[in-house]
Amino acid sequence: GEEDIENLQRRPPVVTIMGHVDHGKTTLLDAIRETKVAQGEAGGITQHIGAYHVDVDHDGQTQQVVFLDTPGHEAFTAMRARGARVTDIAILVVAADDGVQPQTVEAISHAKAAEVPIVVAINKIDKPGAQPDRVKQELTDRGLQPEEWGGDTIMVPVSAIQKENLDTLLEMILLVAEVEDLHANPDRPARGTVIEANLDKTRGPVATLLVQNGTLRVGDTLVAGSVFCKVRAMIDDRGARVEAAGPSFAVEVLGLNEVPAAGDEFEVFESEKEARSTANKRADEQRQSRLQQVMA
Ligand code: GTP
Ligand code: NA
Ligand code: MG
Repeated sequence: GEEDIENLQRRPPVVTIMGHVDHGKTTLLDAIRETKVAQGEAGGITQHIGAYHVDVDHDGQTQQVVFLDTPGHEAFTAMRARGARVTDIAILVVAADDGVQPQTVEAISHAKAAEVPIVVAINKIDKPGAQPDRVKQELTDRGLQPEEWGGDTIMVPVSAIQKENLDTLLEMILLVAEVEDLHANPDRPARGTVIEANLDKTRGPVATLLVQNGTLRVGDTLVAGSVFCKVRAMIDDRGARVEAAGPSFAVEVLGLNEVPAAGDEFEVFESEKEARSTANKRADEQRQSRLQQVMA
């Protein structure tokens, strides 16, 4: 909207790791996080939410990168089906000893359909059977040609286990982010997407919300999908309570009336009354469409 033009500020890139089963997505995420923690920089030690923030030194400045731990293609597909674009950059992990596999191909088509730039991490280069050039050839056959072969896809050979070349990978992520020119306005009511949600036995409905624009604050009233929420508390990726979350930040939110669905969009309303009536209206619409499906 026009109100966004006033205070557009740079926001951190939101990065999703994708790739075939066992190619090292989780190990890579852990390695990036551990490396950063070991260097005394920000990053979650205990994962409370499926997202975390990492500080990266770049051109003498500290820049943040937000990683979404949603490697399952199902979540990605569900979000895309709802028209939600949560990812700015996709890291495609391909094991150098296994090459392009069905889920690699699937990940490429998902990222392309969502028009998300892909950075390839050719992982497990420490293994004796590693064939990075074979991986590059297979990816070229799938329409991803490495820069060094005249294409425009950045491919970084890494070893998640030996923590090799991770700094280069992070640098490349920041380079792509720069090209993407990511901005948001922190001075407006928040809106974004539900990354994951569940019913906690003691805390009730809990959701991880990715703020994509504006700033979310404790006490805000929002509607996530068709669920009303008066934000009672927010918890960051280190398990710390926070009062506010700006663009690209993901926080766990308490105070939801029910459990929303991953991929649902949320929006803060200035008026609590309007939020409640919007939530009710959407819940009604959902009941109607479910009823129609049953009748059909
Ligand atoms: P799913 O979530 O099950 O799809 O797997 P994933 O892609 O998250 O892979 P994961 O991180 O679980 O790693 C799979 C196996 O590969 C584990 O045994 C890891 O230790 C191993 N692995 C991951 N990265 C490397 C690497 O750089 N080098 C070597 N040698 N092994 C690795
Ligand atoms: Na695995
Ligand atoms: Mg994994």
